[in-house]
Amino acid sequence: MIIKVAKSAGFCFGVERAVNGVIAWAKANKDKNVKVYGMLIHNSYVIERLKELNIKVIEDINEVGKDDIVFIRSHGVSTDEFSEIEKRASKVYDFTCPYVKKIHEIVREWSVNGNDVIVVGDINHPEVKGTIGHVEKGRKCIVIDSVEKAKDAITQLGSKAIVVCQTTFDNAKWQEIKDYIENNTDYRVFDTICKATINRQQEAKVLAHEVDVMLVIGDRKSSNTNKLYEAIKEIKPTYFIETLKDLEGIDFSKVRTIGITAGASTSQEQIDEVVHALERKFNEVDIYDFEKLLDKSFKDIKKGEIVKGKIV
Ligand code: F3S
Repeated sequence: MIIKVAKSAGFCFGVERAVNGVIAWAKANKDKNVKVYGMLIHNSYVIERLKELNIKVIEDINEVGKDDIVFIRSHGVSTDEFSEIEKRASKVYDFTCPYVKKIHEIVREWSVNGNDVIVVGDINHPEVKGTIGHVEKGRKCIVIDSVEKAKDAITQLGSKAIVVCQTTFDNAKWQEIKDYIENNTDYRVFDTICKATINRQQEAKVLAHEVDVMLVIGDRKSSNTNKLYEAIKEIKPTYFIETLKDLEGIDFSKVRTIGITAGASTSQEQIDEVVHALERKFNEVDIYDFEKLLDKSFKDIKKGEIVKGKIV
């Protein structure tokens, strides 16, 4: 059996930085009250590990006490929330992803200079809520997720406005909205979508063309893992692996090659666990890291075409 594991499988840079940062700090400071403001990650496996280390996830600022060490997750928070937490806690560590921080800086700088703001994203997403909280008071900020809503927003805003995008928003939808705004206004548009999600999906699609079945490892509550699963199941038989039990129902009798990918909230430990279980299941196993190496972008690849990946 040949197993190819996508290089992009697992934590993205921002999540890895936040999860490892909190865990390392809590391990070294066992006597402190460590709290994370907001769900650090949609992964019950990782949340269990945090509990073992007495790290508490809180959703309400009123739960911050004066002896608490509070960590801000990768999604970031509004300026008001940050100052309130800083006032209440003994110390705050900010693990907002640098790509999200960049959006905060853009929104802040341009709204202070008289621009309204359009945020393209999901109004209920914590990252979007945090971004809105960086817009200068008195300036308008409208969240949209479709071309229709972009049309409405333009009628409500003045001629001076900027546009930013939630880092994990759907890329195809973003391109449509961006094109509409660019063709109909003079607004300054900042492409702030994070390439980690796009790259992971592209690599998984390329890998799917090279194998017999795909396994997507992650938590069913994780939206990016679900999107990854949806994107590749069109190409090859694809199985969602939340725990090792999910491997049991799969018929591998005609399978010679397995491709593995995982969502941005899936830890390396979970990926290794699945790979080791497959090693135990089959007599002869060759495991490769699969790294996307494309000369052309994925949209140029025709369905069914085999694209050469790099086996390292
Ligand atoms: Fe940051 Fe992109 Fe991950 S914005 S948190 S590296 S998906």
